[in-house]
Amino acid sequence: MKTILVTGGAGFIGSNFIYYLQKKHPDGRIVCLDALTYAGNLQTLEVAMQSPKFRFVKGNIANRETVFKLFEEETPDIVVNFAAESHVDRSIVEPDIFLTTNIIGTQVLLDVAKRHWKVNPDDKYCKKYKPEVKFLQVSTDEVYGTLGETGMFVETMPLMPNSPYSASKAAADLIVRAYHETFGMPVNITRCSNNYGPYQFPEKLIPLMINNCLNNKDLPVYGDGMQIRDWLHVADHCSAIDTVLHKGIVGEVYNIGGNNEKANIEIVNLIIKTLGKSKKLIKYVKDRPGHDRRYAIDNTKITTQLGWKPAYTFEQGMKETIEWYLDNTEWIENIVSGDYANYYEKMYSSIDEVASAIEK
Ligand code: NAD
Ligand code: TYD
Repeated sequence: MKTILVTGGAGFIGSNFIYYLQKKHPDGRIVCLDALTYAGNLQTLEVAMQSPKFRFVKGNIANRETVFKLFEEETPDIVVNFAAESHVDRSIVEPDIFLTTNIIGTQVLLDVAKRHWKVNPDDKYCKKYKPEVKFLQVSTDEVYGTLGETGMFVETMPLMPNSPYSASKAAADLIVRAYHETFGMPVNITRCSNNYGPYQFPEKLIPLMINNCLNNKDLPVYGDGMQIRDWLHVADHCSAIDTVLHKGIVGEVYNIGGNNEKANIEIVNLIIKTLGKSKKLIKYVKDRPGHDRRYAIDNTKITTQLGWKPAYTFEQGMKETIEWYLDNTEWIENIVSGDYANYYEKMYSSIDEVASAIEK
């Protein structure tokens, strides 16, 4: 049976992926490496940890010794790298850690995996690897930059990231690519659009708006609220990653998206309506610097070549997601009462209100 190393598994998508794997491939062994930064929450993995086939290790992907030791102990066949600093707003305030984790961390993982997987690790010309090993880098559509009113991201587009976050993810993609080209490493890169679903940290748009609505707090909408994101339910992201792991052609990049372009204000209005709140809670605030206007994923490659398709409609996914947050108020309260509260103050107290609180 295979052993899969999931980095960043105490975060939003990584934890959903661990639960997905436990259900879909119950015989496999899962090892989760996570530094438990502010975004990592062990409470999320409570149920997963009851399985004897699951091991949690607290550690930093950028720490070579930790990663090396883990590979010696567990000899994973597959690495799925979710571990990252993932919030654009934080990357604007404090970019350094984004470069360390997202770029150096990825390179350390690649290097250690190469050492363990290569048939002759000391021969720089050797491009032969143990059978069925793979490194999957979980990337983002943000590496492509921003779109105008038309067009979609395709895998062959140049990378033109605009935030320190997306620049660090783009750099990681290029390192992964280089390890494939130079060392023959069996890799895939997936580039997904914005995810939503259970266990998302309430600094991101959807859980933040749900949480604020529930507490009758202002709903901070950046700029005019007409920026567009292409939303995908996290369960569909997980099934897409699984598809790429099993069917993806080595060295290839796959876009993942569900054709759900929505303006931010539409999302906010949907949450307000579902929770029976007033639009008066909306507060238009100063725009994010370097704010990408529109993302849209062309998913033709993964759907036609690998046969993946999303299962969720946006309406059903949002309904279930809002219900999940209503049913799991304790999960969100534990986060909000911790460090996140200080962060929240710091982030929003300095932002000016620029328009009327009430949507016309
Ligand atoms: P998240 O912030 O919720 O979780 C990140 C996890 O990584 C946390 O558990 C954190 O503790 C861990 N981590 C951070 N630094 C680490 C380090 N140095 N070593 C080990 N663990 C570390 O992020 P997420 O939303 O689950 O995103 C997961 C991945 O998916 C990221 O690589 C992100 O770039 C990518 N992605 C996210 C989205 C989205 O909408 N959330 C969309 C596309 C791609
Ligand atoms: P976010 O969830 O941070 O994801 P990303 O920046 O990676 O797309 O933000 C989604 C969109 O929502 C983005 O256009 C910024 C906007 N946004 C707000 O308008 N207000 C907020 O408080 C947040 C967190 C985001």
